[in-house]
Amino acid sequence: MSLPAQDQHQPTSRLQDVGAVVLPTPYGEFEARAFEVPTGHVYLALCRGDLSGDEPVLTRLHSECLTGDALGSLRCDCGVQLRTSLGAVAAAGRGVVLYLTGHEGRGIGLVNKLQAYIEQDLGADTVDANIRLGLPVDARDYSHAGEVLTRLGVRAVRLLSNNPAKAQALRASGMDVTEIVPLPTAAQERNRAYLSAKADRLGHLRPAGSALPGPSPATPVDVGSLIGTVRPRPDRPYVMVKYAQTLDGRIATRTGDSKWISGEAERRASHALRAACDAVLVGSQTAACDDPQLTVRLVPGASPIRVLLDSTLRTPATAKIFDGGARTVVYCRRPANRLRKSVLEDAGVAVREVAGTSQGLDLRNVFADLRTDGVRSLMIEGGGKVITSLMRERLLDRLVVSISPTVVGAGVEAVGDLGLSCIADGLQLVNRHVALADGDVLLAWDIQAGV
Ligand SMILES: NC(=O)c1ccc[n+]([C@@H]2O[C@H](COP(=O)([O-])OP(=O)(O)OC[C@H]3O[C@@H](n4cnc5c(N)ncnc54)[C@H](OP(=O)(O)O)[C@@H]3O)[C@@H](O)[C@H]2O)c1
Repeated sequence: MSLPAQDQHQPTSRLQDVGAVVLPTPYGEFEARAFEVPTGHVYLALCRGDLSGDEPVLTRLHSECLTGDALGSLRCDCGVQLRTSLGAVAAAGRGVVLYLTGHEGRGIGLVNKLQAYIEQDLGADTVDANIRLGLPVDARDYSHAGEVLTRLGVRAVRLLSNNPAKAQALRASGMDVTEIVPLPTAAQERNRAYLSAKADRLGHLRPAGSALPGPSPATPVDVGSLIGTVRPRPDRPYVMVKYAQTLDGRIATRTGDSKWISGEAERRASHALRAACDAVLVGSQTAACDDPQLTVRLVPGASPIRVLLDSTLRTPATAKIFDGGARTVVYCRRPANRLRKSVLEDAGVAVREVAGTSQGLDLRNVFADLRTDGVRSLMIEGGGKVITSLMRERLLDRLVVSISPTVVGAGVEAVGDLGLSCIADGLQLVNRHVALADGDVLLAWDIQAGV
């Protein structure tokens, strides 16, 4: 890293350079330089590589968001954007993430932001919430950000942002913005309305990504139409079952192999569906056969809580579903084996004991417990036995099936015996939505209530 020392040729600045230090992060080392701006706020520049020269510098102006950045709140996309920007700058080897304190809640401050959240919970969008409180919609000032960039030796930027107003403000401060590099994130159901309002009312560029199939592997896809309308119930979350099957209706071969039935674009959509939900659930056989990690890796998004149904706690603590990528809750039959329970708890896994039935664990118990825990949306990723139990008990609201252009003959079926003899008694699917993901076809329906 080579940053210019304070440039003697700069005009007398109103900025105070308050020091530089190496900041090691999960994205590697950054050189952190702090500047106190005339408002009294500190702007922290996380720099990588030589920022001087004519080549435009990959730059993110990141507005402080305590709830999103530090606490991982899913009300906004800030934390994911911050981490994606740090990753992008690290990957490029040259760039800067300028962290702007004093920009909390688009400049209205933390307390006002929380009050605006209350207004949003009462039905206002992110713009009207501020207006109802008599606050500016956007009070941020970027003029000092431009000065800091100049002080760092930056002459032109490629701006990582969905917000054209940031580019405009930087240009107004004299900085050359050669390109806006969009920074979409995979929407979480809790921030989808917020992202829509940013697009519709504040002119942001596709903050929730593009419609399927998506323009490039790096871009998240907007899967809102696949998920449908998330309506949790008092006694259980909104439940969406999602699986990938071959054209002849198999979710795995005879030997249990399912990697990969669908193509890359479809798997990216699956990760976006995970990112949209509060929790994702699988049965113990899926954990045994596939050893899935169940995190969000193919799109920039937050990983959901992982839920495993494992009556006897036989899944080893070394399974990927228990790794540090996200929180995991295991449901087992009451009373649990104490030794296995404590091994998992020592590994940071929450173990919950519920009643059993002849089919396995009592799913109503499991779902009620998840709802009590605050889970609003639950994605079921299989396998066949769990899906069959859910369908038999009519404990689902949405079905998303991807059909892949392959035929494998005998294998694992997604849905087993539902105990039905009449077609008319089958689950009735309504409000069909179809999306294409390269060679795969994604189909989604609501489950007709009360049938
Ligand atoms: N293509 C896809 O999208 C996809 C997705 C996922 C899985 N798969 C494939 O599906 C296969 C696994 O499916 P599977 O049907 O054998 O098993 P599964 O549904 O993954 O797991 C079934 C196990 O979950 C536990 N369980 C606890 N409560 C249950 C309940 N109420 N209802 C049902 N099960 C309950 C039971 O084991 P315990 O007694 O141990 O609790 C049961 O044997 C694998 O080959 C995997 O590759 C494919």
